[in-house]
Amino acid sequence: MENHHHHPAGETDSAAMAELLDLDAEVLHSYLSEVIAWVHELAGDLPRRRILDLGSGTGTGALALVQRFEGAEVIALDISAQLLDRLRDKARDLGVADRVHTVQADLDAAWPAIDTVDLVWASSSLHHMADPHRVLTEAFATIRSGGLLAVAEMDAFPRFLPDDLGLGRPGLEARCHAAVAEGLADEVPHLGSDWGPRLNKAGFTIEAERHFAIDLTPPLPASAGRYAQASLRRIRSGLDGRMSADDLATLDTLIDSDGPDCVLRRGDLAVRTARTVWVARRP
Ligand SMILES: C[S@@+](CC[C@H](N)C(=O)[O-])C[C@H]1O[C@@H](n2cnc3c(N)ncnc32)[C@H](O)[C@@H]1O
Repeated sequence: MENHHHHPAGETDSAAMAELLDLDAEVLHSYLSEVIAWVHELAGDLPRRRILDLGSGTGTGALALVQRFEGAEVIALDISAQLLDRLRDKARDLGVADRVHTVQADLDAAWPAIDTVDLVWASSSLHHMADPHRVLTEAFATIRSGGLLAVAEMDAFPRFLPDDLGLGRPGLEARCHAAVAEGLADEVPHLGSDWGPRLNKAGFTIEAERHFAIDLTPPLPASAGRYAQASLRRIRSGLDGRMSADDLATLDTLIDSDGPDCVLRRGDLAVRTARTVWVARRP
């Protein structure tokens, strides 16, 4: 694969991932604040709370939690040093660096030494684990009795495009998603799981399960075009050989920043996605 700019491949990937995660947080801001407020309500009052964010990425959850839970200390854990660097920069900018700690660890390997916490947050991360049951069992052991675990997962990838773009054959995005799903079935088999029974199996009791349907239509947040572009780019990277040359060409036209049909400049975008959040308690 061609290596753009001066970054080694891994760094380029993680810069693109960091951008996508930050745009996700920005565009879906109202969903995020609703979920965090809801978890805050379920968690009740405690003087000095310790929170663990599993697979924190650039800190969407960790930073929202540290701001919402006054005085709380948040441990952000991720396998990626680059994403954690970005998270620390953001924590500094927000003036909460003293309450945010980062731990670089691979949750598929040994669980790191972490003192008991009151709340664990895991957003779009559990499905990446080779053995989510083991991770949930470790999370259970790390949460104090009476403490909470909140798991947020995507029900479907975000959709941005109208069915008929006036460009190529209608239904492009649906075909993209179907082709991506084929590849992901092997790569991330836990994606789209029903996490409720899995949480029970690890010893938790389910406190609540809530579905969030996100349907943003114009006027969209300013970064929606960049979010669409970053999402479609990520999808595009796994589609070679899985779609017709015509569809791939149309997709490239939509992604190409310089082209007239780029999603950065289209007036017909929407943002549609759905997330489910389970809140479980360690008895
Ligand atoms: C889709 S991102 C979600 C990030 C963040 N929780 C959010 O909601 O924006 C998944 C994250 O899980 C991390 N991750 C994947 N596998 C991991 C593992 N084995 N151990 C630790 N972190 C992992 C990735 O580096 C990435 O930051």
